[in-house]
Amino acid sequence: MAREKLGVAVIGCGRIGGLRASLSSTHPGVDFLAISDREQKQADVLAQRTGADLVTTDNLAAITDDRVDAVFVSTPEHDHRDSIVQALEAGKAVFVEKPIALTLEDADIIIEAAERSGSELRVGYSRRHDRRWMMTKEQILQGRLGEILGMQSRVYNTRAQLMQILARSPDATPVTDVLTYYVDMACWFLEGVRPIEVVARSKYKIFKELGYNAADVTWAIITFENGAVVNLGVSYALPATYPTIGQSSRFEIIGDEGVVLLDADNKDSLLFTDRGAPHTYVPDHNINMMFMQTTSAADFAVGDYWGAVASETRSWLDHLMTGRPSPHTTPREARRTLAVTLAIEEAAATGLSVTLEG
Ligand SMILES: NC(=O)c1ccc[n+]([C@@H]2O[C@H](COP(=O)([O-])OP(=O)(O)OC[C@H]3O[C@@H](n4cnc5c(N)ncnc54)[C@H](O)[C@@H]3O)[C@@H](O)[C@H]2O)c1
Repeated sequence: MAREKLGVAVIGCGRIGGLRASLSSTHPGVDFLAISDREQKQADVLAQRTGADLVTTDNLAAITDDRVDAVFVSTPEHDHRDSIVQALEAGKAVFVEKPIALTLEDADIIIEAAERSGSELRVGYSRRHDRRWMMTKEQILQGRLGEILGMQSRVYNTRAQLMQILARSPDATPVTDVLTYYVDMACWFLEGVRPIEVVARSKYKIFKELGYNAADVTWAIITFENGAVVNLGVSYALPATYPTIGQSSRFEIIGDEGVVLLDADNKDSLLFTDRGAPHTYVPDHNINMMFMQTTSAADFAVGDYWGAVASETRSWLDHLMTGRPSPHTTPREARRTLAVTLAIEEAAATGLSVTLEG
């Protein structure tokens, strides 16, 4: 369904909600912007940046406003469900940040609301919208890798950033919050092939000593129904001032007719400054050395936002306006990814292999 204008609401005015709202406010099709945060100050600060038309601490008032067609749910990981369900039931298109939820029970309630209401729901796996991974999907669609036999990926970041995640969502872990992007990616690349079994091991020291149930290092192997084996790993325990300011990763796909090797550590985009540069995600955290482009969301430069979340947001708004298909993650894909990440945590905690349900 094509539209000429679009009204947008953003629920949660933090780092990512701030990006969604800023990008919406400059989108040529958006003629109304509502923002809501449970903290009045957060909403007020973002209102100044975006010139929002409606600023509130009442999520439901923003969601159900007649001028709103589409809702971004950018609240913390454990707090997505209620706003999504309210928006779907009000007939609004919904875009929620990853992961869809932290429990399968919440994910099922959300999926049931989406299917009952018929409203569109998409999930923000922004890694897909980084050009390297989007191009890889195209090579796979063109058959240039042949049959995928296996993949390997690992992602690193600093403990300073994980502490920000744990501060807003203490039950999130590097696996459910970050490795989830790479599980989404592996399943997207192996579209149509079901993951069936998970084995994993974790080491717990640094974050455990701080009182969290988050591992320092996790390595997992996921087996798919056709025998493809995918090895995924994550560590967010690197020293606090290590130059990564988001995600430093590698992703390698081995097919029987080709291979793709993505080096996304971004060590080739180096800034060093005696003046110190602000971290884009961790407040009051200046660093002298930075691997630019490691921000997984988007960077502000020369008057605008650039990067995966910028492309992802604009492309979803374009999709709503034009009706063109979009590659954003569906609720069923997001539920499967959540199930795999929870299985990785279970396998690491028990030392046993975990069989995934059909
Ligand atoms: N795609 C990406 O690149 C990316 C990057 C980081 C985070 N994320 C995801 O974005 C989401 C938010 O992360 P963030 O970094 O913006 O967090 P944040 O802490 O910066 O912002 C969260 C905001 O939500 C508000 N809030 C909390 N509960 C609320 C509620 N019930 N109703 C209204 N407002 C509420 C908080 O006051 C805060 O302003 C998470 O799901 C996270 O996983 C995505």
